[in-house]
Amino acid sequence: MAHEILPASKLSATAVSSPNENEHSFPSARRRSFLKGLGVVGAALSTSSLLTTISEAQSPKDIITVGDVAILRFLAAAEILETDLWQQYNEFGGIQDSEVPGGSGSPLYIKALEVLDGDMPQYIHDNTEDEMTHEVFINAYLESRGAEPVSLEAFRNLPSSQATGAQQIGRLTNLMQLSVDTTWYTRYRSRTLNPDLGDTLPQAIPSIAMGQHPAIPRTDDDVQPDPSKPHHISDLTQAIANTAGFHFATIEQGGSSLYPMLAQRVTSLEVLRIVLSIGGTEICHFQTWHDKAGNAPPLSVVDPVTGLTVTFPDLNSSPLGGEDFQTNLIMPEPTAFLSRKLPACSIIRPTATKGAAMGALKALTADGLFIGQSKDFFKFMRTLAIEADLALRQ
Ligand SMILES: [Fe+2]
Ligand SMILES: [Fe+2]
Repeated sequence: MAHEILPASKLSATAVSSPNENEHSFPSARRRSFLKGLGVVGAALSTSSLLTTISEAQSPKDIITVGDVAILRFLAAAEILETDLWQQYNEFGGIQDSEVPGGSGSPLYIKALEVLDGDMPQYIHDNTEDEMTHEVFINAYLESRGAEPVSLEAFRNLPSSQATGAQQIGRLTNLMQLSVDTTWYTRYRSRTLNPDLGDTLPQAIPSIAMGQHPAIPRTDDDVQPDPSKPHHISDLTQAIANTAGFHFATIEQGGSSLYPMLAQRVTSLEVLRIVLSIGGTEICHFQTWHDKAGNAPPLSVVDPVTGLTVTFPDLNSSPLGGEDFQTNLIMPEPTAFLSRKLPACSIIRPTATKGAAMGALKALTADGLFIGQSKDFFKFMRTLAIEADLALRQ
């Protein structure tokens, strides 16, 4: 089996060792046919990489499977997308400095974010910086193991916001037409329901889950002062900041689930360490944003651009209120895990591993994050997701 072309079903049993190990022990003709046999997955491997089967690796520490590479490549792409969206939030609402350069801030948008928490600009800055390091680290690790890093630069074609504060550069993500899935809010409060057991959870803020809404100012019209309101923050500006406040948590709860989902199919202990360690910071982010989202002030306003009414209810009052909506229940309520016959447990959910990468891509797409992106972008992302979802733990 060792040096033959592997069928697709065996791709995950293929190991990649570092380029300088066993460099001359793999006949080039065989290696070429091996790469050809790898098909689309093979494209992820640089020409300097050396392929062996697990049985040929020097020690278990050397092993990184094609499945591991596929998982890391999907995660690298996800982190690039996270960086791109967080960068846009930082340009308007964060702190622009040498750690996270770019943009010049939007004073009334920042004031509206600070209604949720006075430290919002710092948190936005830090979340942005974290994503930049995730992206850079995973790509650098892939290269260090002889695998191809991921670049989405070819797809940086979406327009920037026209509002003062943004850089005018090509973007990968669109924060101006979001349909924000807010089911995480009720999911983490329910004591009985878990999507992994087939349950569906209600939206906390149905009005931003339907239609297309901005989470950053689209133009300066979105951040006009209203002298009749505290701090001159108009209801429209506050609605945009509230939408951002919920979207922050929507993004980060996605990462909180995606990493444990994919970790279950990693083979290399070192790759598992990477996935667990980065995944943990996604949970830190989610916990922070979960706390802030509940501070979004109740309001109802018609967006003059979309014509849609945006409503943020008082989550602590009737007919909401109670455990599924109470705003200070920011820690994961214990719920059913693995089986309803087992005791309830406080957990990240969902964490079922099947179709994890494609599920994440579909969720981000459904949120409207990629409105305006090209067919080639979706094709590239789908390929990465399919490859990651084919990975099997060896
Ligand atoms: Fe991240
Ligand atoms: Fe994140």
